[in-house]
Amino acid sequence: MKNLHKTRATQTMNALGTPLTNAYPRRNFYCPCRAKSFRTNTASSASSFARTDRGFASSSPDVEEHKAIVTRRETILGAIVGLATTSSFSFESVASFAAEGETKKQIILITGGNSGIGKTACEQLARLGHKVILHARTPAKAEQAKKEIIYGQPDADIVTMKSNCDLMDLREVQQYCKEVLEYLSKSSDDGEENVSVKKLDSLILNAGIMAAPYELTKQNHESHFGINHLAHFLMYENLKPALFAEDSSKGPARVISVSSLLALIGELALDLDDLDFERRKYDKWYAYGQSKACNILFADDLAHENSKSKLVANSLHPGIVTTDLVRYSFPDLIASKRDPERERWIREQARKIGIRDADEGCKTHVWLATNDAALETSGEFFVDPGLVYPGATRQQLVEAGDWFLVSGEEFLAPELQFPARLFDGWRNDEIRVKLRERSQDMVSEFLL
Ligand SMILES: NC(=O)c1ccc[n+]([C@@H]2O[C@H](COP(=O)([O-])OP(=O)(O)OC[C@H]3O[C@@H](n4cnc5c(N)ncnc54)[C@H](OP(=O)(O)O)[C@@H]3O)[C@@H](O)[C@H]2O)c1
Repeated sequence: MKNLHKTRATQTMNALGTPLTNAYPRRNFYCPCRAKSFRTNTASSASSFARTDRGFASSSPDVEEHKAIVTRRETILGAIVGLATTSSFSFESVASFAAEGETKKQIILITGGNSGIGKTACEQLARLGHKVILHARTPAKAEQAKKEIIYGQPDADIVTMKSNCDLMDLREVQQYCKEVLEYLSKSSDDGEENVSVKKLDSLILNAGIMAAPYELTKQNHESHFGINHLAHFLMYENLKPALFAEDSSKGPARVISVSSLLALIGELALDLDDLDFERRKYDKWYAYGQSKACNILFADDLAHENSKSKLVANSLHPGIVTTDLVRYSFPDLIASKRDPERERWIREQARKIGIRDADEGCKTHVWLATNDAALETSGEFFVDPGLVYPGATRQQLVEAGDWFLVSGEEFLAPELQFPARLFDGWRNDEIRVKLRERSQDMVSEFLL
């Protein structure tokens, strides 16, 4: 396998092919993950970065700069939207991405398959002839989604489980995985009994929440960290017998970790000594950014720890997609509150500025899960089918409709080093290993 981690620094080029370290002057950002994570002496660590329950206690230049960055966040969003309105892109269809070089019938489990991108991914995967295990928070939600998909595609092979699986509760995740393994161990379709567990070809860890108010999971973890990362980490651990099941007719298993461009704030938001926001002031965007950085590190770690012939793991950003993920941040934009008559017009306008609908938003999920070419790469962050970032050229990003990355590099990077700094300071071997160790401790009680 290509040593992706060693070569990452040299891959980090901006759109014009200039090494980013030269293109943008480095700033002395406050960096919890880099500054704190690997200190063995907790007391000295705590005193070096004094914070109160209400936030940062110090007024050091680093902290002041950090505050200024936080304040400018709204400006960044405004700039993105403003600049986006002047652009226009065309898209290829999802089918064209999936059809070329697709593998034979797979068994694919996807979390959050009842809504948004997860649901359209289920539809696309079923249309390509794969068996889809559709996860949802409750069996009722899973059944409802299955019914809707089968209404449009009567021969869709969609499977649901009977267990609840709220990702807020690791006990439910454990029980759900048990049921999945039992399902995969059942008599085979040809009537054989007591066959060993069937191979789970792809695990798409897609479910997530964004910018939710502070809440704790059943096991007292901050909810973004708990749902978006930890529950998925446990799911992978418990489904290993199926992912690594021997099947000479199949290729390596694939794990697809759905992250986000907002992982870019990883350097500011990821704090391995405070993953649950017990010691720092809660910030819903930092909580989301941290969890999405964890999604990338998790895939990197799996890629690093497994040979490509056994398991291929990648993370992805699906694009900016119109789904109900905005239920906490922009509640008026959820589907049930939008005016159906204006919906078509809005979709067209959104498309012009690079915002995808859920049909388009699932194309990288589908490509990574089904395309043979996706087996060539492990431990990368995909922003489109076949397109890895950093590494993609400006032209490739523009052609793929990834306006946000391009504008980020060209307009925002000089100001905030965005997203040139996407992986600076936190996407490295030390941090991915540490995250794995912390996560293993947290889920140990729930391993099968
Ligand atoms: N939309 C975007 O622009 C965008 C951009 C970057 C990344 N992403 C990522 O894409 C993924 C899918 O998001 P989406 O846009 O499709 O949003 P969505 O429509 O809100 O779907 C989220 C899914 O996650 C499930 N989920 C959330 N909390 C859960 C819990 N505690 N237990 C079980 N399931 C839970 C939801 O189930 P319920 O219906 O039961 O709540 C739903 O099925 C997320 O990981 C998100 O971070 C999206």
